[in-house]
Amino acid sequence: MKKIAFLTSGGDAPGMNATIRAVTRACVYNNLTPVGIYRGFDGLINGDFVEMNARSVKGIINKGGTILKTARSSGFRTKDGRKKAYENLKKNNIDSLIIIGGDGSFTGGLIFHNEYNIPVIGIPATIDNDIFGTSHTIGYDTALNTVVEVIDKIRDTASSHNRLFFIEVMGKDAGHIALNTGVGAGAEEILIPEENLGLDRLVESLKRSKATGKSSSIVIVAEGDKTGKNVFELKDYVDENLDGYDARVSVLGHLQRGGSPSCFDRVLASRMGVKAVDSLIQNKTNLMVGLKDGLIELTPLEKAIKGKTNINKELLRVSDIMSI
Ligand code: F6P
Repeated sequence: MKKIAFLTSGGDAPGMNATIRAVTRACVYNNLTPVGIYRGFDGLINGDFVEMNARSVKGIINKGGTILKTARSSGFRTKDGRKKAYENLKKNNIDSLIIIGGDGSFTGGLIFHNEYNIPVIGIPATIDNDIFGTSHTIGYDTALNTVVEVIDKIRDTASSHNRLFFIEVMGKDAGHIALNTGVGAGAEEILIPEENLGLDRLVESLKRSKATGKSSSIVIVAEGDKTGKNVFELKDYVDENLDGYDARVSVLGHLQRGGSPSCFDRVLASRMGVKAVDSLIQNKTNLMVGLKDGLIELTPLEKAIKGKTNINKELLRVSDIMSI
């Protein structure tokens, strides 16, 4: 094996640059040529490659985003797109591919492997933390810290005005961000995609807080929460069904994906990058690297794609107890 190519794909996540740095330097350390691919699978289809060296990744461990850029590629969903991608890899004598991204990107990678037998390794990087086979995805810890910092700021204005705030956080299918930041920032209620806690419960909880002397409250709502109402509809519902609340909405949006990665994410990215290259050298392929009980371990890509992560139900109970 001589050349390893890698790309970042799907939604960006803080720590992707630290991952690019780790993969690049692990390649150089092992006398392999690292090749970066721009704009995810789109760059693979268009042959947008750059040979890297240890110095091409200097000064990026602390940078948010991804120097390689990213994309949600529609071209790679087509047979024709994947054929062009394969031809580009062959033309450039690239032996294997590391995909830094989420489960959608891994699905593309596995289809590609099945069609063309290119060895593939996945490195999980998404703020959603919704990938089976790892307790933490790269970017998740940073996003949690960003969200908690922002909620703290919103709490300042909420308590100054005696207001109720509905704060929407990312997570169309996963409530990990909502649940952890909700507990970390002391939210009154947390609404997530995995459990329908019901609107009655929300109303009862807010009534109880008023009765017990709370003057302001924060409700965290994941993008895909199960009540079926979005954050604005939830505010309207409370306006219609509860007296005495002055409610506002804040949608945090893409600021959750930006910023300098936390130390945890930088270390995780470095460990996963090294493990990904080691695995390819040892001919272990079609796997995803993941963090399990403090160790970096491998999970078959197929399992990582098909498996579902579970929310930590203990946090729901802790949140209940904390919001009395
Ligand atoms: O998968 C990461 C994520 O940030 C989700 O939490 C969010 O729902 C989605 O990406 C937003 O995607 P886009 O940036 O394409 O709008």
